[in-house]
Amino acid sequence: MSENKVHILDHPLLQHKLTILRDERTGVKEFREIVAEIATLECYEATRDLPLKEIEVKTPVATGTFKTLAGKKLAIVPILRAGLGMVDGILSLIPSAKVGHIGLYRDPETLAPVEYYCKMPSDIAERDVIVLDPMLATGGSAVAAIQFLKNYECRSIKLMNILAAPEGIRAVQEAHPDVDIYVAGVDEKLNDHGYIVPGLGDAGDRIFGTK
Ligand code: PRP
Ligand code: URA
Repeated sequence: MSENKVHILDHPLLQHKLTILRDERTGVKEFREIVAEIATLECYEATRDLPLKEIEVKTPVATGTFKTLAGKKLAIVPILRAGLGMVDGILSLIPSAKVGHIGLYRDPETLAPVEYYCKMPSDIAERDVIVLDPMLATGGSAVAAIQFLKNYECRSIKLMNILAAPEGIRAVQEAHPDVDIYVAGVDEKLNDHGYIVPGLGDAGDRIFGTK
């Protein structure tokens, strides 16, 4: 089985912003802003393979043939809740992307993902999809969300996270070898509660100020 690619995005700006997210003193406002900024920077890399076509444009000086996006249809699908924090960062670069939502939470005892909401664009099957979730811990949520999207037979799926544990990357690679992962950091391990160590804490709580 061919293994998916894990793109660890080590640009200095991403590393700097990730360190701010990790700091327990970072408040809700700044945390939320930086999650969106990281999503924008990651989006730049995750869309590197978008196809281009040539069009004719008249500049104030001359007419020439120049490149423009070939109109590939994209959808982004945040995993609720924390994935919502990445949506605006992506839309700032790709304002025409459609947005689907998958609601999953981890059962605190079993750590298994529990689905509670789903709403997809009606033409999701014709789209290339980027699944958004800041955290890839055990991988249970991402594996379930991707499986869910595969049932819609969308054209392709990429996974975008901010921080991952090796366990989560392995889980996605095993379950979905065709899905590339884009992530700004890979930490050491998970603790007994399934939290990434050293990590950044509970991303949903820190984005929405619920703790
Ligand atoms: C967090 C996070 C991921 C999931 C990752 O969500 O946003 O969705 O945990 O863990 P996993 O890889 O072990 O599945 P959580 O369940 O805390 O829900 P929330 O986004 O509503 O806070
Ligand atoms: N979900 C989070 O928000 N943080 C973790 O460290 C693990 C799962």
